[in-house]
Amino acid sequence: MKGQKEPVLTIRDLSVSFTMYDRGLNRREFEMVHQLSLTVNAGEIVAVAGSSGSGKSLLAHAVLGILPGNARVTGTMEFCGQRLDEASLKKLRGQEISFIPQSVKYLDPLMKVGRQVIGPCSRREKKERQEKMKQVFARYQLEESVANLYPYQLSGGMARRVLISGAVMNSAKLIVADEPTPGLQESLARETLHNFRELAEEGCGVLLITHDIDLALQMADRIAVFYDGRVLEPAPAADFLNTNWKEEVELCKSFTKSRPFGQRISVSDIGRMPLGY
Ligand SMILES: Nc1ncnc2c1ncn2[C@@H]1O[C@H](COP(=O)(O)OP(=O)(O)OP(=O)(O)O)[C@@H](O)[C@H]1O
Ligand SMILES: [Mg+2]
Repeated sequence: MKGQKEPVLTIRDLSVSFTMYDRGLNRREFEMVHQLSLTVNAGEIVAVAGSSGSGKSLLAHAVLGILPGNARVTGTMEFCGQRLDEASLKKLRGQEISFIPQSVKYLDPLMKVGRQVIGPCSRREKKERQEKMKQVFARYQLEESVANLYPYQLSGGMARRVLISGAVMNSAKLIVADEPTPGLQESLARETLHNFRELAEEGCGVLLITHDIDLALQMADRIAVFYDGRVLEPAPAADFLNTNWKEEVELCKSFTKSRPFGQRISVSDIGRMPLGY
């Protein structure tokens, strides 16, 4: 494995809050992600697994710098040792950092999908990227003619495969995949995950966001269980296989709930918890 173990993404104490109107004109700040720390190394797939509404997409959007204007982000994020801020993200997004969004609404409705997958490039690069798109489309069982369609002409599963195709076109160092497989038939879901493993073997770091802990267990090198905007200490997938994780994740939820914000626990701590926690 090339480039293994160098951190590609380092998140420290990330909090995301929104200013919203509570009652009438009372403005209040609601914190959705609380002091989250996480590292993704080159050559590994780190899964963030958590229930709906736990803040997984907010984490992805914070990394990509695409949170809405009423979001307040604190903490630090680094990409290959370089501080991530608005200016650096502008250069990295879609190049060294690829994103597979959860929603297909991220496709531009007014642009043919081929142009979106190829992305902005010089005339000289265009031929090479068209060729690459053909290969990627074939891998995801998309006809070449799909490139000439507009997003509204795609089925949900096709749109999802187009989003995945766009993300694997570049030799990105980091892929942030927010629920990449729902809606895909099983063979294509497996192919997608196999593709992530190949990219990791080439040195890419993959942050795989999923509500499906079984999928995370099959695919990831390390798993961080996300609950209510907080993260359980990331642990090797094998640690979950060695334990009755379903019960323990339930235990962990109540345990995490009872802890002050920002305090993390490890999978091995769960085993040491007193019964009835
Ligand atoms: N723009 C926003 N303004 C206010 N609250 C928001 C905003 N976006 C998300 N939230 C809230 O933040 C919380 C986490 O949302 P998020 O989309 O990250 O959940 P998720 O874990 O990705 O869920 P799912 O598995 O359903 O995709 C939710 O309670 C949601 O309502
Ligand atoms: Mg989500």
